[in-house]
Amino acid sequence: MASEIQKLQEYQAAYASTPGWFNQTSIGIWDTLLSFQTKSKICGDLLEIGVWQGKSAFLQMLHTRSNESCVFIEPYLNEAAKTAIESSNRVCRCEFYPIKSSDFVYTPRYATSDKTFRWLHIDGDHSAAAVLGDLELSNKLLGPDGIICVDDFFSLQHPQVTTAVLKYLADHTDELTLALCGFNKAYICRTSAYPLYLKFVEETLIDELAHRQLENLDLCKTSEISDLGCLQGYLLLDANFSSTHPNWHRRMGRIVRLLLNYAEPAQ
Ligand SMILES: C[S@@+](CC[C@H](N)C(=O)[O-])C[C@H]1O[C@@H](n2cnc3c(N)ncnc32)[C@H](O)[C@@H]1O
Repeated sequence: MASEIQKLQEYQAAYASTPGWFNQTSIGIWDTLLSFQTKSKICGDLLEIGVWQGKSAFLQMLHTRSNESCVFIEPYLNEAAKTAIESSNRVCRCEFYPIKSSDFVYTPRYATSDKTFRWLHIDGDHSAAAVLGDLELSNKLLGPDGIICVDDFFSLQHPQVTTAVLKYLADHTDELTLALCGFNKAYICRTSAYPLYLKFVEETLIDELAHRQLENLDLCKTSEISDLGCLQGYLLLDANFSSTHPNWHRRMGRIVRLLLNYAEPAQ
């Protein structure tokens, strides 16, 4: 079991102190999901929209295998971050696109990337229009068993991100399904791969997180939220929160309905 968290240990030792927006719980969740993909022999390239100083990029790099590429889209990437990311690279191809994600469709890379990615992280422009565009791009690139991770899902500072994700999911239920969310991030898979990730979340996730010293977490799923269709996934919460807010799921169901109604164009 110790060798399974070797990449996480390497990340914690060398890169966890990088300034950025990647909390400890999300670091553990990413390591768990990326390790699950490796164990399940899920292959494909990895992509990040919004790199800043590379705090999440480094973990993505560590999990990229020799036959895969790590692709970074960041219009304002500074040279120091680029050099640090490149030098963390041991085995894989590393590609940088110093452009806005909305311009990626004009690159030759886009033309050959249909459904070839197993991991996409959306963490760029946080406007609703940009998030909808990034979801459309990611839906095009996502392979059959991959994951799209969206930053700032259910973050109080960015309600437009939550609204955009819920709207996109509600409009694409045949293609994409939320498998898991929590600690500011949504994890979305192909609807056809939902049973695979659901089984992992239900049977393995909590043990895997505990093995990474992430304890006191609750996994929640209520019919009130999943009834909405766009929120089929589990929610991972700090156990202290669910015990001190016993009716949180009812309130959450109401908030989601409000957000979805708000996202509907006026008649
Ligand atoms: C929140 S930071 C990314 C944080 C980083 N992933 C981390 O783990 O610390 C958002 C980044 O998105 C970049 N960005 C802004 N607009 C963008 C766009 N249209 N396409 C791609 N990246 C964009 C910004 O320059 C910034 O570096």
